[in-house]
This record gives sequence, structure tokens and C-alpha cells, in this order.
Amino acid sequence: MTVRHFLSLMDCSQAELAGLLKRGIELKDLHRRGVVYEPLKNRVLGMIFEKASTRTRVSFEAGMVHLGGQAIFLSPRDTQLGRGEPVEDSARVLSSMCDAVMIRTFAHATLETFAAYSRVPVINGLSDDLHPCQLLADMQTYLEHRGSIKDKAVVWVGDGNNMCNTYIQAAIQFEFQLRVACPEGYDPDPALLEQAGDRVSIVRDPREAMAGAHLVCTDVWASMGQEEEARERRKTFAPYQVTSQLLDLADESVVFMHCLPAHRGEEVCAELMDDPRSLVWDQAENRLHAQKALIEFLLAV
Ligand code: CP
Ligand code: NVA
Repeated sequence: MTVRHFLSLMDCSQAELAGLLKRGIELKDLHRRGVVYEPLKNRVLGMIFEKASTRTRVSFEAGMVHLGGQAIFLSPRDTQLGRGEPVEDSARVLSSMCDAVMIRTFAHATLETFAAYSRVPVINGLSDDLHPCQLLADMQTYLEHRGSIKDKAVVWVGDGNNMCNTYIQAAIQFEFQLRVACPEGYDPDPALLEQAGDRVSIVRDPREAMAGAHLVCTDVWASMGQEEEARERRKTFAPYQVTSQLLDLADESVVFMHCLPAHRGEEVCAELMDDPRSLVWDQAENRLHAQKALIEFLLAV
């Protein structure tokens, strides 16, 4: 049987993604009611982090404990990966000992190479190109607060980065309209834009993008690995800060999301984080529930 990986949202069908969201909500309810559900006893998730993380690490680690299994944190600093052991070799070895492997890395190709040599499911815990686990949590959060996102207007404000690229894939898979408000030179992946066709449009003025918006999202202006560009980016992106006033231009049902960590005073103004329209804390919590659904889905087969 072929192994299922989760390197992007396109690795699942629309029906499977809908099932994952539903299951995430069910697992959240079980957890809140204190029900012990441990289908993954003795199962092990290996987690390779080549970049920093709070939410991704803790949600996967806590999730494996809840499901009765265990997670192993692996950093290149203290594994042979950091000393040049080929990804292909690491994949063969780790997948002979673990039941699934989550990887947070720079080049998306590293994930693809690992997956090609892995005999167990590989999960993208963020690459320079995509962050699909975050989108499971975001879509679950929207569903819980506002119902189906199908045909809604979503606005991405800021950098056309890994999160923005993943929102483009989400627009295709969950059938919403996406407007990307980003400065010239910071557009998302052109191949994804082409694939999305009419579902996604680029606008330069964030105020113009707000009309009728049901969900507004943003993210840091300098992603991990772009630290040296941070100063320059602060200047370029200054007109793209998401504020309470900007959100006032959207639909009255609008909600705000940010994958976190947030830089208050840069991409988001401080008070918006705790505005009644902000779902950022639920969104972060849902990483746990959504990924438990994902792990169960990938390992249940
Ligand atoms: N949103 C997110 O992936 O957070 P971490 O970088 O803390 O894992
Ligand atoms: N775009 C950000 C997301 C962090 C969760 C980064 O890649 O650093």
C-alpha cells in the first residue's frame, strides 16, 4: 500500500480535508470532556525541526501524548542531519523506527526528498513554501465560529510567503475567493496563482481589498530565514499593517487570524490581537486538535 504524506493541502481530497476538520472538532470535544482516547499506543512520531517553533512542536508533542503515543524532538544541532548525513539516508533510518515523521525545514525539496525515501507518512511542519498544518487549524477555527468558508471572501494582507501560498491552496480546496494585498515584488508563488485561476486576485491597496471580506489574515513581514531583510521589509510593508480601523472596512461578520508569532506594531496593531473579531488564540489552540485528526488519519491506515 502506498504511504500517505501531508506535504501540502493538495495531498488530500476536498472530502478528506472536510473530514479532517470535522474530526478535529470531535477530538477537541473529547479532550475538553476529559475522555481518554489512545488509539496510537506504542506509536512514535519523529519531529525534525530545522527552524524554531513553539506551537508546532508543542501541539504535535501534546497531541501524540493524548493519543497514547510519543513524539521525539530532533534538532539538526544534535543529530547527524546537522553534520551532513544525506536526507535520503536519514529518511530510510528514521522511517524504520518511527510511525510518522514531521519536518520543519527551509527548502520544500527537502521534504519531498525525505518523503520519497520514507516508508512512513511525512508531515510538513512548515517549509519556505508552505505551512499546511496551520491551514487545517485556521479552517477548523473559521468553521467553528462562522460555518462553511465556501464562497466567502478571504483577504491576505502582507507578504506573499509560505502562509499566503498555503491560503492559495486552501482557496482551491475549500472553494473560497482570496484577495492577496501585498506590495509589488512580494507576490506569492506564480505557479500557485496560475493554478488557482479566478479564485485568487492580487491587489496592492489593503483598504481596497477589505470590501466584503469575511476573513482577514496576516503574518510576519520577515519569515524565518529572512532575518537580514527585516529592516528593509519593515519599510516596504509599513502601509500593510492590519489595524482595527482597516478591519472596520470589511464585512460586519469579519474575523481576523494570524498564525503567530505576532509582531505587534508591525504587521498587526496591538489592540487587534484581543479585539472581539480576533480568533488568534482559538486558532493557535486548534493546531492541537486539527493535527491530532491529521495524525489519526495518516496512521489509522
Ligand atoms: N504558527 C506556528 O507554526 O507557530 P510556531 O512557529 O510557534 O510553531
Ligand atoms: N511565515 C512565517 C510563519 C511562522 C509560523 C515563517 O515562515 O517564519
